[in-house]
Amino acid sequence: MSIHKQIKRITTHVLIAMKQRKEKISMLTAYDYSMARILDAAGIDILLVGDSASNVIAGHETTLPITLDHMIYHAQSVVRAVDRAFVVVDLPFGSYQGNSTLALASTIRIMKESGAHGVKLEGGIEVSDSISRILSAGVPVMGHLGLTPQSIYKFGTYSVRAKEKAEANQLLKDAKLLEELGCFSIILEKIPAVLAQKVANSVSVPVIGIGAGSMVDGQVLVTHDMMGITKDFQPRFLRRYLELFDEMKDATKRYINDVKTGDFPNNQEQY
Ligand code: KIV
Repeated sequence: MSIHKQIKRITTHVLIAMKQRKEKISMLTAYDYSMARILDAAGIDILLVGDSASNVIAGHETTLPITLDHMIYHAQSVVRAVDRAFVVVDLPFGSYQGNSTLALASTIRIMKESGAHGVKLEGGIEVSDSISRILSAGVPVMGHLGLTPQSIYKFGTYSVRAKEKAEANQLLKDAKLLEELGCFSIILEKIPAVLAQKVANSVSVPVIGIGAGSMVDGQVLVTHDMMGITKDFQPRFLRRYLELFDEMKDATKRYINDVKTGDFPNNQEQY
């Protein structure tokens, strides 16, 4: 029997059971095979092939330019690496809004061509038709409320959302709607911790936070941010576990020096 068969995979049922027994869910982004292999080996529960690839991989200012073809390429690389984690793929901007037929077609391409386990999309009531249509095809859907980066030009800034009562009430309503529609989980991005706690207590599905405090069912970060590969992005909610930008820059400088001085390769490093 191969090693793949012996590992208990994470499913939507496992994630919901984790919420029920109050076990926190860990989630990170991944966009390529090598990084996904490391994160999966470490025991991460969910890997998100996020449209943040548009920022951290492609260098765009927003998540809007990334295409469905790009997302599928990243998702294929991640799925090939994973033995245990549940792999969720972001539906990119323009692939689901205002058109549930398009939403289903985009989802089917992701699921067929990458082998991922579910999709994520941003928004509440305004994307409910798309969510229902995708769910009717048997594909698990993760919602995303609060700061939804695909709407950056509507918001105008990346600052904390739902600080005002009206927006907070709408967010709570949207979270309940996502649960009723059948989403298996909801991401809350950059909202007050008290509101996030209220949402987590009001729905039966796992609520995963990013900049939403500790009283939710799990946490997600962009891997390049938590590993310190991105250097200039320093929001309050981010905890850096490594300073890879500096470490990799230093290693590169040492390599350049070894090449220039003729120190590399030495006698043992050649044939
Ligand atoms: O694309 C992404 O990385 C995300 C996370 C910030 C949740 O949506």
